Amino acid sequence: MPARRIEIFPNAEVLAEKTAGHVAQTIVRSLQKQERFSLVLAGGSTPKRLYQILAAEYRDKISWDKLLIFFGDERCVAPDDAESNYKMAYDSMLSQVPVARRNIFRLKGEIEPQKAAAEYEATIKSVPGERPIFDLVLLGLGADGHTASLFPGSPVLQETSDLVAVVRVEKLTLSRLTLTLPAFNSYAKDIIFLVAGKGKAEAVQRIFGDEKPPLPAQMIKPDKGKVTYFLDEEAASLLDNETLEKFA
Ligand code: 6PG
Repeated sequence: MPARRIEIFPNAEVLAEKTAGHVAQTIVRSLQKQERFSLVLAGGSTPKRLYQILAAEYRDKISWDKLLIFFGDERCVAPDDAESNYKMAYDSMLSQVPVARRNIFRLKGEIEPQKAAAEYEATIKSVPGERPIFDLVLLGLGADGHTASLFPGSPVLQETSDLVAVVRVEKLTLSRLTLTLPAFNSYAKDIIFLVAGKGKAEAVQRIFGDEKPPLPAQMIKPDKGKVTYFLDEEAASLLDNETLEKFA
């Protein structure tokens, strides 16, 4: 079981600020030992503030030109669609920092999904270096325990070799492209879950339980890395003392 750790912050703003500091420090330290840093961005709404802070307060503290940017999942929409995870990251951070456009690897939500998945898998496999190649993966957590576009009960949770998959979720109108468990667990060094708000408290409580089948977020177990849960107090509010003592 990889190292799992919890860090709890008073509210969503402090959570974003402290996570930004941690991400920046991880990047700076890694680039003292390696030429490139591969960062996988999370979608949804929670990371937006983190991205804004990284762009505003760390623009000159990170060697953005040495970063390779990937995405953990994407909605099957155009990159300028309000639903696009790429658009959220581009507007809040990527458009404000000197990351090379050629080093931003988008999941192409605008093309035929299977083609987009195959293309992205080839892109991941073309990154030089030994696995794990993703130095840091950012993930969110849904109230149902999903992460990226890995939803409870989805057949994609059984995937053992493909790195990228197309997901059709009844409750969602849009198909999704997502990295799979093999991608997260064999290609990621360190993983950070960024979770805020009371609406996620039950999911956070559950991912530290031992329910069967496990929630998708519980199946994120990098072979050679650690998982850190950056939570605000509301999201952590249902964790018992035993869990807090063990992981916090
Ligand atoms: C997405 C994300 C998804 C997200 C969670 C939490 O494409 O929406 O990949 O997994 O991280 O649903 O979303 P919020 O941050 O909006 O609560």
